[in-house]
Amino acid sequence: MEIKNIAEVLNDALEYGRKYINKGNVATYIPELAKVDKNLLGVSIVTMGGKRYHAGDWQHEFTIQSISKTISLIFALEHFGSEYVFSKVGMESSGDPFNSLDKLEIKNKYPSNPFINAGAIAVAGLIADKYEFEDYLVLVRRLCGRDLIEVDKNVYISENETGLLNRSMAYLMKNSGVLDTDVEETLKFYFRMCSIKMNTNDLANYASILANDGVEVKSGIRLIDKSTIKILKSLMVTCGMYDGSGEFAIRVGMPAKSGVGGGIVASAENKMGIGIFGPAIDTQGNSVGGYHILEYLSNELGLHYFSRELSNVVY
Ligand code: DON
Repeated sequence: MEIKNIAEVLNDALEYGRKYINKGNVATYIPELAKVDKNLLGVSIVTMGGKRYHAGDWQHEFTIQSISKTISLIFALEHFGSEYVFSKVGMESSGDPFNSLDKLEIKNKYPSNPFINAGAIAVAGLIADKYEFEDYLVLVRRLCGRDLIEVDKNVYISENETGLLNRSMAYLMKNSGVLDTDVEETLKFYFRMCSIKMNTNDLANYASILANDGVEVKSGIRLIDKSTIKILKSLMVTCGMYDGSGEFAIRVGMPAKSGVGGGIVASAENKMGIGIFGPAIDTQGNSVGGYHILEYLSNELGLHYFSRELSNVVY
């Protein structure tokens, strides 16, 4: 059996992902995101042994968008407990696009899950009611391992000025009593968390904590509660790639969360954390290059959660 080296596999994965960039486009509904070069593509890995590997445009910073929803869920679960959080938002995949407000009107006043926009706005409302945005940012920095992580002000302004659909959802939820807090304060919190910028190394650090059951690899310190991790990763499997989550589960098979800025955070249980950036996204809001990089890595490294194949790649 030929023994391969992971740096080689990562470069091959990047080149494989690159072939799909032309099948996607940058998000244009947030004008500031439309300015990003759609050909950028980068990936970072942090293994459970603490080794790091990078390829492509991994140093390029991007806004994490919906990936921020995973960290707001961690924050809310650990400060308010799951019972309270899930009295405001459901645990089911919606089968609808991330920005849909259909079900809020016709089916259930509570959003289906914390990762669609309505659900994330409801969770942001819980946090904004009792905490400052800085408190949330401290957690983001700790999980990503870099103190200089900040909000991209231009993206924030752009989202705030154009987020009419998100405003509609928030007002609908305020009207039905799901949201107790001030709508504009809640939206300010939500748009700021979506506009946090980082690179794939930061994202891979966070992913490695998820893959390591909530424990930081290099220090051995538990940063996320066991019960939170279980809820979070289950929701990442069922809802992390929105209405593309089913196919992603089959093709890739890792808890993951995408953002329309082109980021994907993916956690290969007990093996490695993966951070990806590729701003060309598909109609479901998932990075097309990133999706294919993950599919390639999953196959080559045996990362699918139901794979029992031994990898011949050393990492
Ligand atoms: O609210 C929005 O529409 C964006 N700030 C976040 C959406 C998003 O990232 C969906 N993910 N793929």
